[in-house]
Amino acid sequence: MRLVGWIDSVRDHGGVLFVDLRDREGLTQVVVHPGERSIDEALAHFKPESVLEVEGEVVLREESTINPRMVTGEVEVAARRVELLNQSRTPPFPLEEGKAEKVGEDLRLRYRYLDLRRRRNFEALRLRHRTAQAVRRALDAEGFLEVETPVLFKSTPEGAREFLVPSRLNPGDCYALVQSPQQYKQMLMVAGVERYFQLARCFRDEDLRADRQPEFTQIDLEMSFIDREDLYGLIERLMAAVWREVEGTELSLPFPRLSYAEVMNRYGSDKPDRRFGMELVGLDDLFAESAFKVFAGALASGGTVKAVNAQGLADLTQGELKHLEETAKSLGAKGLAYIKVENGEWRSPILKFLSAGERAGLEERLALKEGDVAFFAAGDWEGSCTILGRIRLEAATLLEKRGQLHRDPRDWRFLWVVDFPLMLFDAEEGRYLAAHHPFTAPVEEDLELLDREPQAVRGQHYDLVLNGVELGGGSIRIHRADLQKKVFEEVLGLDPQVVEDRFGYLLEAFSYGAPPHGGIALGFDRLVALLADRASLRDVVAFPKTQKGQDLMAAAPGSVTERQLRDLYLQAVEA
Ligand code: AMO
Ligand code: AMP
Repeated sequence: MRLVGWIDSVRDHGGVLFVDLRDREGLTQVVVHPGERSIDEALAHFKPESVLEVEGEVVLREESTINPRMVTGEVEVAARRVELLNQSRTPPFPLEEGKAEKVGEDLRLRYRYLDLRRRRNFEALRLRHRTAQAVRRALDAEGFLEVETPVLFKSTPEGAREFLVPSRLNPGDCYALVQSPQQYKQMLMVAGVERYFQLARCFRDEDLRADRQPEFTQIDLEMSFIDREDLYGLIERLMAAVWREVEGTELSLPFPRLSYAEVMNRYGSDKPDRRFGMELVGLDDLFAESAFKVFAGALASGGTVKAVNAQGLADLTQGELKHLEETAKSLGAKGLAYIKVENGEWRSPILKFLSAGERAGLEERLALKEGDVAFFAAGDWEGSCTILGRIRLEAATLLEKRGQLHRDPRDWRFLWVVDFPLMLFDAEEGRYLAAHHPFTAPVEEDLELLDREPQAVRGQHYDLVLNGVELGGGSIRIHRADLQKKVFEEVLGLDPQVVEDRFGYLLEAFSYGAPPHGGIALGFDRLVALLADRASLRDVVAFPKTQKGQDLMAAAPGSVTERQLRDLYLQAVEA
């Protein structure tokens, strides 16, 4: 037989060489008896990561040399001929599991092709492939058509920051890389496609985090003649099919649905991790008349007082407490009041402000007992929820470190978050911004509020959340030109000329018989990261970009020549 692969390791047992030869399926042990000239020559160059071709016989190993940790551990290949196909330099970092992780990520990204040779990383690519195939099969079976849409689009307001691409053929004009195929997929509905999907590449020039890449992939889909229920059902079947095929588990359907108000109130997040409790508790009525000015003041100005009991965390260190306070402050809190219960006593900087009734109320509602610590937030509703939502997650991490809590990555807590407000007031811009995007349809019975009380209008949009990750978002769309124009101009306050320039074609298309339609986009990279139980999207993308948006392997982005700039009618300015 002929075997080819990479030299994983070589062991010299008194002249007999044992070579672990690796290919993408795993390792095979090759035994090389020296003697033959061709073999001897090759041996002098046997270095890890070199490419080797072996001809020989597969033989059963002796009982005593069977390696139960190797899939191929019962056999080995006795080499008749070996040929070094390509010699490798010594790799810049060790590729063994356990050792490679200790090397800085930048070095591994610079040599991404080597890092991808590691089993764990290759398996992530294979899982991504299997997931993509499962998605394609499931959506094909549901009657969806895979349609590719352009990546070179135009700049549109109201979304994320875009990557611009100057056009050589149209001096001074720019394309923008698509943030998502949103408008194209809506055009496909107007075109009568009815069911579209695409594993779509999207580009956003955002600040990057572990869960964001500047270019990423969506399972993007759109359907005509549906309502929200149809969409929920479809996505639940899709997720069930993927989990069945890739994970080998049956998801329990339907997924729970919680309103935006409810998830904020209970978990302080619009993408709650429901693998553990530690829910937030509302305390407005308890402190309405309080002598504690911080709480009473927040309530008097229309805000809220909430708390979360981090059960069993009273032993948190001064450093950990400080970190929690800093976290709260970074989210706009003025402070982070707390109550610890230690040795039967309450310790708290706010204890002196609390009446006996308030203490009793807190003890009961927060179920405060020995070893607990409760954290408080007082202020505007959304801010206070968000602050405690973060504290809840940070506290969970601390409890996990102490072995007092376990969040199983394979405990799949899907949920739909629904009933979002259509619009949120942006204090900085002094106007309303679409909570999802400006194409989202208002809830029918709220339509009459659009003029009077825009903030009270609910949108027909929904997020799919899994274990603290926003997996996807979508909506039923506006399909009537008059309503879309009204939302752009009267509600979002866009200049009519801007609307005409940027969205004129869309409004025009809606005037030619646009069907009612809606859809969703799921973050494919996030989905794969969850399935692969990897913390960063970088781990499930073949050639990811760093926090600074760089491809360290190819060294992109890079400078270009004056000449190239001139061809595009551009001029460099000092940074
Ligand atoms: P949205 O902007 O919510 O919706 O994006 C949908 C999903 O895409 C994923 N995602 C990302 N993944 C990795 N890196 C990023 N920078 C990134 N940004 C977003 C998230 C998110 O939930 N056109 C609409 C969808 C629709 O209305 O149908 C859209 O793009 O998982
Ligand atoms: P002060 O009266 O400002 O010294 O605050 C007393 C305690 O309440 C301190 O522990 C503060 O960290 C905390 N605190 C102050 N403002 C808030 C707030 N808005 N929400 C929660 N705790 C707060």
